[in-house]
Amino acid sequence: MAERVPAPNAPVPEEVGRMYDRMTLLGADLLGNGHGYNAHLGYWDGPHSELTYDQATDRLTDVMAQRLRLGSGARLLDVGCGVGAPAVRIARRTGAEVTGIAVSREQIARADELAHTAGLRGQVSFRQADAMDLPYADASFDAVLAIESMPHMPDRGRVLREMRRVLRPGGRVVLTDFFRRRSPSPATHPLRQTMGSTTVPLDDYPAILRAAGLEFVEMLDITEETVPRSFAALAEQAKDLHLAPEDTEAQCYFNPQAVIDTDLLGYLLVAARRPRD
Ligand SMILES: C[S@@+](CC[C@H](N)C(=O)[O-])C[C@H]1O[C@@H](n2cnc3c(N)ncnc32)[C@H](O)[C@@H]1O
Repeated sequence: MAERVPAPNAPVPEEVGRMYDRMTLLGADLLGNGHGYNAHLGYWDGPHSELTYDQATDRLTDVMAQRLRLGSGARLLDVGCGVGAPAVRIARRTGAEVTGIAVSREQIARADELAHTAGLRGQVSFRQADAMDLPYADASFDAVLAIESMPHMPDRGRVLREMRRVLRPGGRVVLTDFFRRRSPSPATHPLRQTMGSTTVPLDDYPAILRAAGLEFVEMLDITEETVPRSFAALAEQAKDLHLAPEDTEAQCYFNPQAVIDTDLLGYLLVAARRPRD
């Protein structure tokens, strides 16, 4: 394995994995079943959209999946797959073969259960792995998806290079990421302290993609469609969970509004492509 020189305050994958282990176990208890929930923000097409939060999280999966251009039998890698809900949804709707990876053992166990329950075990599979060192051969996927996992990566450039490596020429990567809308005040919790996450300046993305050998396709600021209503919905749901106020980790996951200044947070959708050789 190549030597890692993490940036100061960079998330540590093993710690992030442990955080998601705990949250998955808590989620399984607190949310009643732990099957099939999306661990990402919702997407509402406009202020008049009447989607529930759960429907809106599926809507975000669909908004991203349509940009992957998957046909039946296409091979998709889902980097940071959570408990597998997006992978299962995309496999069902497109006929693609989906492989999901995440650093959390508990998430992978739950994702396996979900694929089994959905009757998709031949088409969808999961594995515990670190996106910084993808355990796959060069050019082994037609597309790569990363829904909200980039904020946890110690080195975004390295992960994007890994994505490029495993993509076939012409294959697409579609991801979401958090960006900073303005500088945090000293009193503000950096994301790192609460969720093992960092944000990135919006304007840096095209250069990060280029440096990783990827061609820019599309970059959308989807903050308005996602952040305010998602955080409000999570705060509402969290009222029933009786989370201890001092448990910032659980608060952050189930009621991020309690610990994150949402005015700081922007949400970004990026599509890129491995150039054809
Ligand atoms: C916010 S959750 C999103 C989960 C899933 N994409 C979804 O939308 O439901 C972030 C995911 O990234 C994964 N993750 C974080 N750091 C990772 C790393 N270094 N390598 C692989 N997965 C990672 C976590 O285990 C978790 O599944």
